[in-house]
Amino acid sequence: MRIERSRTALARTALSRPVAGALADQLISGGSTVFDYGCGRGDDIARLRALGVDADGWDPAFRPNTERRPADVVNLGYVVNVIEDVAERRAAVLTAWGLATRLLIVSGRTFGEDRAPAGVSHGDGLLTGRRTFQKLYTHTELGEWVEQVTGERAYAAAPGVFYLFRNPDEAQAYVRSRVAIYRPRRQIDTQALYETHRDALEPLFAFMAVHARPPRTHELSDADKVKVADAVGSVARGIRIIRSATTASYWEEVARQRRNELLVMLALGRFRQEDLLRDTTTRTDARSLFPSADGARRDADRLLLACSDPALRQVNALASKVGRISPTSLYVHAAALAELPPVLRVFEGCARLLAGASVGVNIIRLSYVADEVEYRAYERFEETAHPPLSFSARVRIGKLDVRWTPPEEPGRRSVLHQKEQFVSIEHPRRELYAALSRAEHRAGLYDEPDRIRTEAGWREALSERGLVVAGHRLRRDVRPEG
Ligand SMILES: C[S@@+](CC[C@H](N)C(=O)[O-])C[C@H]1O[C@@H](n2cnc3c(N)ncnc32)[C@H](O)[C@@H]1O
Repeated sequence: MRIERSRTALARTALSRPVAGALADQLISGGSTVFDYGCGRGDDIARLRALGVDADGWDPAFRPNTERRPADVVNLGYVVNVIEDVAERRAAVLTAWGLATRLLIVSGRTFGEDRAPAGVSHGDGLLTGRRTFQKLYTHTELGEWVEQVTGERAYAAAPGVFYLFRNPDEAQAYVRSRVAIYRPRRQIDTQALYETHRDALEPLFAFMAVHARPPRTHELSDADKVKVADAVGSVARGIRIIRSATTASYWEEVARQRRNELLVMLALGRFRQEDLLRDTTTRTDARSLFPSADGARRDADRLLLACSDPALRQVNALASKVGRISPTSLYVHAAALAELPPVLRVFEGCARLLAGASVGVNIIRLSYVADEVEYRAYERFEETAHPPLSFSARVRIGKLDVRWTPPEEPGRRSVLHQKEQFVSIEHPRRELYAALSRAEHRAGLYDEPDRIRTEAGWREALSERGLVVAGHRLRRDVRPEG
């Protein structure tokens, strides 16, 4: 029987998940070359070109005549799952990896991600009614298979999506970039000399605010050094001006945050069996903030051990300044992750290294009874007062397992209430959200928590009381009846 592989290529209305993720991770940018291996109808190529990326692609059915040529980034998007011949499937990965000078992105369909195709068993997958072949993977199975075929390490980018880096330093930078960064708001004395030279001094300030120390000579670009020197005479003077325009407590907080980041980073490196202190700038940061690099490594090991202990996770969840606590879990907005206690940041970081992060995820549930982190994507979190749940992915750390929950039908989707409980303490709209929750509480809308959990139940509860939510305000519904 002839298998119709080309029928698996659907027209896309937006960038595919793996390519959108690589853009979000800044692994594809305006200057990159991208080759889409098994590009189907070429929709990703067209969209990348519209973004100014030099993109091309090959597909045996749709673009058989394009030359298969090397590129910085090669995308092998949902190709391996449609090839029924195991030897050819391996060859596709190896050829694509051979073309990738910096990064290969491999993705495959995974269980639960969307509706499972129906079909009869064929080889290690299914033959569908449309005479296409589909092999569904588990997330971990796909990653392990890619590693086994290529002999390279596969880094989870998102559920069902993996990155393979040509240069180990880029792989390490990717792992380091998984650590969320939080900095206190800058409070600058507007009378100070800094204000006069703000533009010239900004790159220097930015470096100091990230690394909690002044840069070494080679850590600031030549252009930035010249700018500082032209404006204030020397980099050393620039540093003094920055310090005198800010408070000591600001720098103490920056140092505290950087210390925590380094610990989280080192713990995650240990989890992936990688020494993230190989990078000189990171090593210099560690030496300036800890008595020794070895001491930092020991503290990080303790943190990694602590995060596997449910009781310690619970204590830290109860002590957390951000997030909503439930009898089993702490829920927090993704943008407030860096404000969590380090033990919980490491716990979440381990889950993210296993599963990757999906574009659209905004609420993260950290369990302290199970070894589990759940990533939830609520639609239009900022704009909508009660955003509905679009999809979620549950990561079981010990079992190395990722499970998707696809979207429910509209009406049955669950909705989020009291958004202020999840966001950062400094979130600019926290008070607006809280005022709405207070009004909803006074109106008795939270009296039946189970009922208001779904879109339909919430709408009913509002309408019974003659109320509507407009923007982030609760109002009487004044629409004429009938
Ligand atoms: C599910 S589609 C994915 C298309 C595109 N990458 C996307 O994400 O929209 C799978 C594609 O793999 C192509 N394909 C089949 N066998 C292949 C092979 N050995 N090497 C590369 N691509 C192949 C098919 O022609 C089909 O267009």
